[in-house]
Amino acid sequence: MLQHYLLALKTTVLKYWLGEKSDIQPMSITLPETSLRIFLAERPSGHITSSTFASERIPLPTPSEGEVLVRVDYVSLDPAMRFWLDDVPSYIPPVQIGETMRAGGLATVVKGGKLYKEGDLITGFVGWSEYAVVQECMIRKITPTEGIKELDYLGPLGATGLTAYFGLLHVAQLKAGETLVVSAAAGAVGSVVCQIGKLKGARVIGLAGSEDKCAWLRKEIGVDHALNYKDKDFAKEFVDKVGYLDVFFDNVGGDILDLALTRLNQKARITVCGAISVQHVEEPKGPTNYAQLIIQRARMEGFVVFDFYQQFDEAVAEMSQWMREGSLKRKFHIEEGLEKCPEYLPLLYSGGNTGKLLVKVSKDCEF
Ligand SMILES: NC(=O)c1ccc[n+]([C@@H]2O[C@H](COP(=O)([O-])OP(=O)(O)OC[C@H]3O[C@@H](n4cnc5c(N)ncnc54)[C@H](OP(=O)(O)O)[C@@H]3O)[C@@H](O)[C@H]2O)c1
Repeated sequence: MLQHYLLALKTTVLKYWLGEKSDIQPMSITLPETSLRIFLAERPSGHITSSTFASERIPLPTPSEGEVLVRVDYVSLDPAMRFWLDDVPSYIPPVQIGETMRAGGLATVVKGGKLYKEGDLITGFVGWSEYAVVQECMIRKITPTEGIKELDYLGPLGATGLTAYFGLLHVAQLKAGETLVVSAAAGAVGSVVCQIGKLKGARVIGLAGSEDKCAWLRKEIGVDHALNYKDKDFAKEFVDKVGYLDVFFDNVGGDILDLALTRLNQKARITVCGAISVQHVEEPKGPTNYAQLIIQRARMEGFVVFDFYQQFDEAVAEMSQWMREGSLKRKFHIEEGLEKCPEYLPLLYSGGNTGKLLVKVSKDCEF
């Protein structure tokens, strides 16, 4: 499956990206002799612990033909990273013991190749490292335009926003006037889903784990209702405020999914985007109320954002327009220091983030 995506990147996507002309002048950067990297030391069972990752300084790597050396500016922290640590078949190979932890990010080319030159800002899998050698066919150059910032390519215009866009509009096929419920609504994907839902004319109810997050969803994101799933009256509130739903965009699974299954309209759609509540559970239980899918002629469908790579441009164009108009807000939760990535990653599982969780790696990066 990964080969399929890689081939697609080489053939379809690359052609487009290479068409872009840079207005960034070649830069001169003094390179260090070594680079810090953080690698998988042992596979966790359950939660990530202090012995899951280890770090080391290595000589600055040298790019070969078809590769460039990049300075990593920011890395994205994503719930899927926990899945990548398990040695089980998935949509992407597991990270191997000793391998630098895989992470998407933004980086600056410091030793160019055939396709990218020094100073180009790129996005791709750069990993938890200060400097990285990456294949030119696996990265994408970004050129922010009016109203768009560099970090947006790790937020609404990156995997996060694309997941929200395709999960809601293509998998769930949300229609105006429908009732949309979103779990982990104050997170990176969820907050974009809520806003697209409002833009498309739905009634939107967001679920989150604190009163502060619910207040932010009501005031800033503009949902019709925000419910704290940790409240003791949550199930009753859910019934009162939701009534019956047409689309449940699910990021968490578990008990919340089970509750949503009891409140389906006929022909409802459940988009299974993530299952963060059961990610650390060795033997998660399945949804007990799934028979409601039969009674309500409803469907429940999982997806991986890469399935839609051929339509990424369409989504980026529409979301960029919403951002320029001010109708799509973005919130970043930014931490600093590569060496602390193993401590920051669990924020996603404890609810310590609001919006897109990023780590600034390079002190020399100016944004
Ligand atoms: N299918 C795809 O292609 C794809 C792509 C990207 C992401 N995803 C999935 O999308 C989901 C959201 O990802 P994200 O990057 O936007 O992360 P995020 O929502 O920014 O962060 C995760 C949030 O999940 C909530 N959470 C954690 N443990 C929970 C639990 N036990 N019960 C309920 N909520 C819990 C927390 O918010 P609270 O404080 O509100 O609990 C936390 O802030 C994840 O499940 C991820 O795996 C899927």
